[in-house]
Amino acid sequence: MASVKVLLIGATGETGRSIANGLLEAGGFEVYALIRPASVAKPQLLDLQKRGVIVRTCDLTAPEEELAQALAGIDVVISCVGTTDQHTQINIATAAKAAGVKRFIPCAFITICAPGGIMYLRDEKEKVYNHIKQIKLPYTIIDVGWWYQIATPRLPSGKLDYAMTLANDELIGDGTTPSAFTDLRDIGKYVARIVVDPRTENKMVFAYNTVTSPAGIFALVEKLSGEKLEPKYIPEETVHKRVAEARAFSETYPYDATKFTPRYAAEYQLSWGIRGDNVPEYAKYLGYLDAKELYPDFKPITFEEYIQELLAGTATGIYTDRISRIY
Ligand SMILES: NC(=O)c1ccc[n+]([C@@H]2O[C@H](COP(=O)([O-])OP(=O)(O)OC[C@H]3O[C@@H](n4cnc5c(N)ncnc54)[C@H](OP(=O)(O)O)[C@@H]3O)[C@@H](O)[C@H]2O)c1
Repeated sequence: MASVKVLLIGATGETGRSIANGLLEAGGFEVYALIRPASVAKPQLLDLQKRGVIVRTCDLTAPEEELAQALAGIDVVISCVGTTDQHTQINIATAAKAAGVKRFIPCAFITICAPGGIMYLRDEKEKVYNHIKQIKLPYTIIDVGWWYQIATPRLPSGKLDYAMTLANDELIGDGTTPSAFTDLRDIGKYVARIVVDPRTENKMVFAYNTVTSPAGIFALVEKLSGEKLEPKYIPEETVHKRVAEARAFSETYPYDATKFTPRYAAEYQLSWGIRGDNVPEYAKYLGYLDAKELYPDFKPITFEEYIQELLAGTATGIYTDRISRIY
């Protein structure tokens, strides 16, 4: 059978590398990466090229005809642009329609949340989904819950700091609101199945590894490490205050992406920490298919396995190309 030609946008990023790995490991795909000229020498890209990824150089801000050329012969486009770049997908979606792309996977890959004023990030992504539907481009929206890699607390001893570029030391309320979590490395493995599955065309899919709570993760880290954690308990009123302040701070003209980071963080806490949105039951209510039902044989990395890796010193930090540590 001929291999499926997949073009990845954001292949040098965290989600993009997971997806490139997932496609390469699964086999049956010819993997292309759309790379802006300034990034062609990035070490992350050279590694992918060595493993067979073919580069097409083009910036997402290029004219539509140029974007359509970069998409020539491509069956599936998967976009993993960074958080503040969601709007850059509008033109490439239009170009994908012109180029006859058979399925477009817009950059979703976040937690479950209904659109319309709860999470700005969600609403930015929904603008892209609406555009795709208006131009009648076949699509699949894939959300993944919260990465293990940013949901794990530090240890007082500092033993995990080598892989803790973004740690979670806060518990909202008593920390027991259930939430879905996924190992970043499993996202690509799910995606490799979903993008060629006829059942997922023009659907939303929730692909997650496990449901637990932040307090449950803290307890697991304590049990496996033997160290006592000192979480920062954040009352619900503080989250509401953070959301109000971050919204006021970011709503300025002209648009300034750097002002949105506190807003993303606060609105995530509102959605998964207080509202309890990020769970499979609510995803189903919103119309998502559940990857656990679609792929019952899928063996995800468990949270315990990830923590054991961290403790063994063999885990990998995220965003190490741009930040050394944030907490
Ligand atoms: N579920 C979770 O817990 C979680 C956590 C973090 C992020 N996310 C979501 O995952 C998505 C991907 O985030 P990430 O953190 O994985 O991304 P990332 O590491 O920041 O990477 C972003 C990618 O987009 C590319 N890109 C941006 N603008 C471009 C342009 N104009 N032309 C071509 N390429 C461009 C970048 O290329 P360059 O190399 O050229 O810069 C990079 O490869 C985000 O939308 C975010 O909402 C989810």
